[in-house]
Amino acid sequence: MRIMGLGLLAGMMVACTAMLSPQEQAELGVDGTALAKVPSRNASAKGLPIGACINLGNFLEGRSGGEYPGKRLDESDLDNVRAAGFNTVRLPVNFMRQSDPNPPHRIDPQWLVRVTGLVDAARARGLKVILDNHNFFADVTADSLDARKEWLASVWKQLAIHFADRPTSQLWFELSNEPGEPINNRNLMDILGPSLAEIRKVSRTRPVIIGGERSSRVESLETLQLPDDPNVWPTFHYYEPFMFTHQGATWMKIKPPPIGRPYGVTGDADRLSSDIARVQAYIDRTGKIPFIGETGALDTAPLPQRVTYVRTIHRRFSALRVPQCYWTYAKNFTFYDYRSRMWLPGMLEAIGLRNPGPRPAPVQQPAPTSGP
Ligand code: GLC
Repeated sequence: MRIMGLGLLAGMMVACTAMLSPQEQAELGVDGTALAKVPSRNASAKGLPIGACINLGNFLEGRSGGEYPGKRLDESDLDNVRAAGFNTVRLPVNFMRQSDPNPPHRIDPQWLVRVTGLVDAARARGLKVILDNHNFFADVTADSLDARKEWLASVWKQLAIHFADRPTSQLWFELSNEPGEPINNRNLMDILGPSLAEIRKVSRTRPVIIGGERSSRVESLETLQLPDDPNVWPTFHYYEPFMFTHQGATWMKIKPPPIGRPYGVTGDADRLSSDIARVQAYIDRTGKIPFIGETGALDTAPLPQRVTYVRTIHRRFSALRVPQCYWTYAKNFTFYDYRSRMWLPGMLEAIGLRNPGPRPAPVQQPAPTSGP
């Protein structure tokens, strides 16, 4: 059935090939025709109205907690993101390290003030916010899993109450970034269900986002079973081909993938097409459109390659009406460069936005004159 469906789809798409330039066709990898036909197929499927989205990653979500060293995220960053035309920000936050390990797991009040300030500053600029609970299970073991799930539910209870009056059209909760063993799609809702229940005691309509096993990679969609709740939304992360997007990455348990692996080698196009088919199958099965909560390529790849990658991801997944949140604003999978005060050439254009040019330097306050 699936093979026949794909064959039919490919046949339908061939007719549209002429709409794209040869360069676009090459970038799209296969026959370049996914763009025109697929949206009508997904027209009745529902998804969160995310629009253009970027992760404010590598600021508040580190495994050891607190703020990353270096530039702190502030209102000028949100101005910058808004000026670039983004509609939504995903804000990854480590709440585990910033809450009491003992029940009732009170969140550090100062941390909550800091996060609230950013959430409200983003909303004040017309940005929607995905508040993503990051690294909550980073060090969990099978033995500590039950206690950790109660801890997570206590944290979400506090957050749900704290943010109860923020409009549900502007603030969305992501229960846990990239679930991984000992969490998998079989026990996912056993672990996350109590958190969802706490949020639902406060609001039936607050959008809640859930990703599946194995770091929410695209394959996780195949067995992802979400609760029957119209305001629960699926997500996945897309870093394929991993050997391209993570070349030189040093923070993982595996040896860093070698630097220099280009994008677009044999097999990349087929891989993307089969991943597109996986996402389409999920949409067909559930009627819900998942969004890509993270995608992008590390700075160790040359900029033109990174531009081609994000352009290809943007075009292929947008054709399915699947929104993308790019990883990440200004650190290591960089879109914006603090030193030059510029969005990296080509990156915004590749995802359908207009580069607003360099940001003006901050106004220097004249040095106070000393008295006579
Ligand atoms: C995940 C990790 C984050 C990493 C990113 C790209 O979100 O939590 O630390 O930078 O994936 O690998």
